[in-house]
Amino acid sequence: MINSTVIIKTKRLILREVKKSDLNDLFNDMNNIKISSFMLGIPFPFKKSDANQWINHCIKSSKKVPREEYVFAITVRNEDKLIGEVILNENDFDNKSVELAFWLSESQWNKGIVTEAVESVMDFAFNKLKINRLEMAAFVENVGSNAIAKKLGFKYEGRKREASIPESTKKVHDDNLYSMLRREYRK
Ligand SMILES: CC(C)(COP(=O)(O)OP(=O)(O)OC[C@H]1O[C@@H](n2cnc3c(N)ncnc32)[C@H](O)[C@@H]1OP(=O)(O)O)[C@@H](O)C(=O)NCCC(=O)NCCS
Repeated sequence: MINSTVIIKTKRLILREVKKSDLNDLFNDMNNIKISSFMLGIPFPFKKSDANQWINHCIKSSKKVPREEYVFAITVRNEDKLIGEVILNENDFDNKSVELAFWLSESQWNKGIVTEAVESVMDFAFNKLKINRLEMAAFVENVGSNAIAKKLGFKYEGRKREASIPESTKKVHDDNLYSMLRREYRK
């Protein structure tokens, strides 16, 4: 368990903790139904007060000891601007099982950014947090997210029927559930 502030550097990106000054970037990027319709608990329209609430939550949770969650702001090297997030939720740390979620500003899609960011967070989760199981769920209709899970070598575990209802659309979705285990992760 790592309790201090975490920074992860990749070839093109810096992943860092969320901070107060991310407010406008978060608000501008997340107020997009193409993003919130694939995520849980995100209202649409997404107001500035919603962005503020999330940022306060991230700052508070980053100070918890032990930590239960890591919310990484995705930023491009040399531009300290939030363009997305990767979230590790230690929902079941007793069993060394952690959940992964992510989103990216629409202006940045299809450049391999989330693949690169998630790869680095997988390394952090397995090699620094020493977890045993990393899991992620994607709506069956979410082509990009399912592609990322497969591309990064996650194993498909099955389909959770009517498991998710996004706040933004109130539509019911089946989830594809994926996982990777420590012994399957090679780095
Ligand atoms: C899904 C999402 C995270 C993808 O981020 P991204 O940085 O554009 O993804 P990448 O560029 O790393 O793409 C990884 C692979 O997925 C494919 N892919 C990504 N988006 C796709 C789409 N909309 N349709 C088809 N394929 C897609 C890419 O082609 C790539 O495959 P390849 O390397 O074989 O070409 C982004 O579109 C997003 O934030 N969507 C809305 C929120 C969301 O769905 N979050 C995830 C919830 S589980």
